[in-house]
Amino acid sequence: MSTRTIGIIMNGVTGRMGGNQHLRNAIAAIRRDGGVMLKDGTRLMPDPILVGRNEERVAAAARSAGVEKWSTNLDGLLGDPAYPVYFDAVKTDARVGNVHRAIEAGKDIYTEKPTAEKFEDALGLYTAAKAKGVRHGVVADKLWAPGMAKLRMLLQSGFFGKVLMVRIEGCYWVFEGDLQPAQRPSWNYKRAEGGGMILDMMPHYYYMLEAMNGRPLDIVCHADTLVGERWDEKGEAYKADADDSVMSISRLEGGAMAQIMSSWCVRVRTEDIIVMQVDGTHGSAVAGLRHCHAQRRESTPKGQWSLDVAEPVDFYKDWHQIPETAPYKNAFRMQWEMFLRHLVEGGEFPWNLRAGAAGVQYAQAAEESWRERRWIDLPAVAA
Ligand SMILES: NC(=O)c1ccc[n+]([C@@H]2O[C@H](COP(=O)([O-])OP(=O)(O)OC[C@H]3O[C@@H](n4cnc5c(N)ncnc54)[C@H](O)[C@@H]3O)[C@@H](O)[C@H]2O)c1
Repeated sequence: MSTRTIGIIMNGVTGRMGGNQHLRNAIAAIRRDGGVMLKDGTRLMPDPILVGRNEERVAAAARSAGVEKWSTNLDGLLGDPAYPVYFDAVKTDARVGNVHRAIEAGKDIYTEKPTAEKFEDALGLYTAAKAKGVRHGVVADKLWAPGMAKLRMLLQSGFFGKVLMVRIEGCYWVFEGDLQPAQRPSWNYKRAEGGGMILDMMPHYYYMLEAMNGRPLDIVCHADTLVGERWDEKGEAYKADADDSVMSISRLEGGAMAQIMSSWCVRVRTEDIIVMQVDGTHGSAVAGLRHCHAQRRESTPKGQWSLDVAEPVDFYKDWHQIPETAPYKNAFRMQWEMFLRHLVEGGEFPWNLRAGAAGVQYAQAAEESWRERRWIDLPAVAA
């Protein structure tokens, strides 16, 4: 069996997503398991080189993942033909310039979302990649979380009939940082540093909705900063001025109504941190990141609707859990494997810079709708 290597420049791996998900859970795990199996039986082995601004931190990231190569010289690496792929998981507001330089250098691109802070810049990345003829992919990990994958399988089977409504709730409490350390970096809560719930989460919700009933056609949104004081990584208090809570509605291309409720200021008393419910004429299903429960038309109970007696119907009872038939892999790893196969075997890769730009367009429209207190239409991003 032959093995082929593929050189990947990985930027942003000293951070939370780059280090945990992309480096350790995806690329290092693929290497440990002997690479990605291609159709012709060849094994495609990622050959990563880590890049960062701080020598000590990038060397530590390399050690933690058993990677031998690292550098602080991004420009030097962009000129090195041994590395045809550039991966970017840096802080959102530092992404566009790096990705443009990588495209200009002829690298294939794989990047975290949002691809930019502004739609114009996100579109610029797509246009530049197209003009240069490089291949490109954007992280859409939620699609391969086991619960969401089960929901997509139900859709594919025709289980829902006509999809009527899609609701997403993505809420949890992010610690302020005084009593307990915050779970997310402080830049997320500062507007000037590319933070905010809208920019962080609407690109995810865009592809999740699109997967269920076609792209959102429009949006009306309200957002706010509910927790105004937080404490940073050094324990210093700062003013949080980025939106931390969002509510929005959209119409989907397939005709369904969509609603999003997303907040870092809500304590969880549901199944999971992200929950998506799809209601259709023939059945409904609710998925968290891991599990998915479904209820058919025939097993839909009738509630009593009485204020005088306690509801006799147990509404949880008539849902059945979709069984776990596959040993699910880490969602980031699954998408990496698909992207690496795409680079060698060709074919479509729909989660690309065009899709990434549509996600940023959705976020920007949400922001505009909120600021201007009006509905915003979303023209399709041209291919
Ligand atoms: N797919 C997902 O589910 C998901 C979840 C969270 C975050 N993200 C995205 O991943 C990206 C990183 O988020 P994170 O939570 O890992 O942040 P982080 O702060 O933990 O990491 C940021 C990384 O960017 C680097 N960096 C910061 N400023 C830079 C600059 N000026 N130039 C070059 N590098 C710089 C840091 O050194 C670090 O490696 C963001 O774009 C975020 O939106 C994606």
